[in-house]
Amino acid sequence: MSTFKAPKGTYDLLPPDSATYLAVRDAIAAPLRNSGYGYVETPGFENVELFARGVGESTDIVTKEMYAFETKGGDRLALRPEGTASVLRAALEGSLHKAGNLPVKLWYSGSYYRYERPQKGRYRHFSQVGAEAIGAEDPALDAELIILADQAYRSLGLKEFRILLNSLGDKECRPVYRAALQDFLRGLDLDEDTRRRIDINPLRVLDDKRAEVQKQLVGAPMLRDYLCDACKEYHEQVRAILTAAGVAYEDDPKLVRGLDYYTRTTFEFVHDGLGSQSAVGGGGRYDGLSEMIGGPALPSVGWALGVDRTVLALEAEGITLDLPAATSVFAVPLGEEARRVLFAKVTELRRAGIAADFSYGGKGLKGAMKNANRSGARYTVVAGERDLAEGVVQLKDMESGEQEALAVDEVVTVLKGRLAE
Ligand code: HAM
Repeated sequence: MSTFKAPKGTYDLLPPDSATYLAVRDAIAAPLRNSGYGYVETPGFENVELFARGVGESTDIVTKEMYAFETKGGDRLALRPEGTASVLRAALEGSLHKAGNLPVKLWYSGSYYRYERPQKGRYRHFSQVGAEAIGAEDPALDAELIILADQAYRSLGLKEFRILLNSLGDKECRPVYRAALQDFLRGLDLDEDTRRRIDINPLRVLDDKRAEVQKQLVGAPMLRDYLCDACKEYHEQVRAILTAAGVAYEDDPKLVRGLDYYTRTTFEFVHDGLGSQSAVGGGGRYDGLSEMIGGPALPSVGWALGVDRTVLALEAEGITLDLPAATSVFAVPLGEEARRVLFAKVTELRRAGIAADFSYGGKGLKGAMKNANRSGARYTVVAGERDLAEGVVQLKDMESGEQEALAVDEVVTVLKGRLAE
C-alpha cells in the first residue's frame, strides 16, 4: 500500500468488480439510446451560481454539500452535485431547443460530488446515469421516463424495487399549499433548525425522519388536496399511462425531493434491500428551471439513477450479472521463438476482433497457465520449441480440458470459427 488512501467517502472501482459497474451503466443507458435520447457530456464543474439558482439556495445540496471553490483566476466554481442543471445549461448554450424538434432528449453518465456524511450507499463521489427530456409538457413523456427506468432495472434482474409517485403542483397551486403548510407547522413544537426550515423550505419538514416530528405531522395539510385542476388532470394522465404500460407504482403524497426545481410529477425508485439509503434513483418534472437559469420557458422532465446504489441493490438481491469473460484466447509461449510467433498470433486475433491476451514476463508453464485460468479465457494456445518445429501449437479448450495440435497458420481461422459457435 502507498502512503495515500482514497479520500474519505470515496472508493475505487477495480477489476473484477468494476466490470459490473460498466454493465450497470450500459444497462441503464440501453433503453434510453433505444428511445431517441442522444448522449450529452458536460464539464465536471460549473459556475457555482448555476447550482445555487438551479438546485436551490434552500437545499442541503447547495448549502452544505457542495464542493465550491475559487480558482486562481477568481472564478467561483463547484464540482457538480447533480446533472440536471448542467445538462439544461448545455442544451440552452448549444441552442438545441431552437432546432425545432422538441423535446430535446438527452442522456448522460458520469461522476457527481456531494460533501455528505459517508455511510453505506452514500458517498462523496458517486456515479449516475441520467436522462432529461427538455421542452415538452406531455404526461406521456413523464411516463416514458419512468417506464424506461423500470425497464433498465428489470433488464438487470432487479425485482425488489418500488416506484413512488407524487405531484408537487405548479406555480399556481403550490404557493397556496406552501402557505397552508407553514401555518400548520408554525403551531408545532419543533427545534430551532426545523423552525427555520419552515420559512425557507417547509415541504422538506414533511421528510423529517425523526419519530417525534413525524408524530406531530399527522393531520398536516397534504399537497394532494391543494392541486389545481390542471395539475390534477396531468397527474391522472401520468398514472393512467403507467398503468396501461403495466408499470406498478405507489402513490406517495409525502414524497418530497431534495432539489428545489421540481414541479408536478416527482418520483423515486426505492430498493427494499438497502437500508436507510434506499433511493436508487429519482427524478421529476422541472417546468421552471430553464427560466430560473436565464433561459426561455421550457417545461422538462428527467431522472438520474445512482450506479453505486444499483450495484448494491444487485448484491442485496444476490444477482451476479452474466458478464462475458474479458478474454477469449490466452497465449502461453515457452521460449523465445514461441514468444515471437504467439505474440504475432495474438495481434492477429485482436485485429480480427477476438479478445486475446498473452503471458508476459517470461513465466514458466505453470505460472502462465495460472494466468490463463484467471483470465477466464475459453481457449489457451501453448507453444514450445518442439511444437514450432512441427509447425503447430497446442490448443486447449479450458472448459472441457481437451487439447489438440493445430497448424500455426490455422490458429486464427479455427479460433474465429469455434468462438462464433
Ligand atoms: P437525486 O435524487 O439527488 O436526483 O439523485 C439521484 C440518485 O443518485 C439517487 O437516487 C441516488 O441513487 C444517487 N445518489 C445521490 N446522492 C448520492 C450519494 N451521496 N451517494 C451515492 N449515490 C447518490 C438528482 O440528482 C436529479 N438531478 C435527478 C433528476 C434528473 N431530476 C430530474 N432530472
